[in-house]
Amino acid sequence: MKVCFKLLGIIVLSLFLSACSEQPITIKFSHVTADSTPKGQGALKFKELAEQKLPGKVEIQVFPNSQLFDDDQGMDALQLGDVHFLAPSLSKFDRYTKKLQVFDLPFLFDDIDAVQRFQNSSTGVELLDTMRDKGFQGLAYWLNGMKELSTNRPQLQRPEDVEGLKFRIQESDVLQAQFRALDANPQKMAFSEVYQALQTGVVDGQENTWSNIYTQKYHEVQDVIAETNHGIILYMVITNARWWDGLPEDIRTGLAEAMAEATEYANRLSNEINLQHRTEIEVAGKARIQTLTPEDIAQWRSAMAPVWKEYESEIGKDIIDAALNANN
Ligand code: LMR
Repeated sequence: MKVCFKLLGIIVLSLFLSACSEQPITIKFSHVTADSTPKGQGALKFKELAEQKLPGKVEIQVFPNSQLFDDDQGMDALQLGDVHFLAPSLSKFDRYTKKLQVFDLPFLFDDIDAVQRFQNSSTGVELLDTMRDKGFQGLAYWLNGMKELSTNRPQLQRPEDVEGLKFRIQESDVLQAQFRALDANPQKMAFSEVYQALQTGVVDGQENTWSNIYTQKYHEVQDVIAETNHGIILYMVITNARWWDGLPEDIRTGLAEAMAEATEYANRLSNEINLQHRTEIEVAGKARIQTLTPEDIAQWRSAMAPVWKEYESEIGKDIIDAALNANN
């Protein structure tokens, strides 16, 4: 009888333990942009695919719009294990590595196809591992698009039009140097604070993609947006390296597959989303879109050119050359 009770106890305990082990792992993906941006769409696709591939094993919670963290707080939280996936713009990694600042050099890439070629090149792939010593594992690059400039002044065609103006920038020294080269005043600021800073005149202008300008409503508080295409916004999806390495094999493989498919999806969609948001801005009719001639672009390019030399040794000439190779 005693043996029977013992056996029953063991069975109940093992049923309880197996029920516990079947609880899905909760995985938090935090980011700062709207759901309808290329990054927002990528994160939602990743959730859909990961939960499809690992039914009952994972639950992905996506937090857009800086709901959980801004980018800087998010990276601290990732190191502590309080969040599992982030996709900061590469500019935000300045405090961890100078190598990724290559992506901030003005007029480095001819177009988005060149960016894609570079990120898929051996140098681009190696850069995904460059912050492992800081606890971050890069899993993928996600594209947003080319950056445009906007201000609260009527004219924005040539570099002299931004002299003395205050611009919000991301946390990047290269971007700071870029605006200083234009004799403008850069101010580093979190993405979630930009709209108000533009609205109240704390800053006069900013640089971002069509999708970020539209979804953050910057076009409602700016007078002109010049189609400079002088730089890019590109993301690295990162996770906590120790957490990732410690995941059960089947979960890590499923998540990696979902990430690869979500990456393809988001990168295919990014250009279309930016074009659509450009049209929405045009239709809204608030900020004027200033198209530029090749002569105008040449002026911007040469005004920003000194930044390259200034950062060549910190970034590494080999990395800059590899990026330039992708233009061919
Ligand atoms: C910014 O801060 O302007 C961007 O990094 C936001 C984003 O994630 O696209």
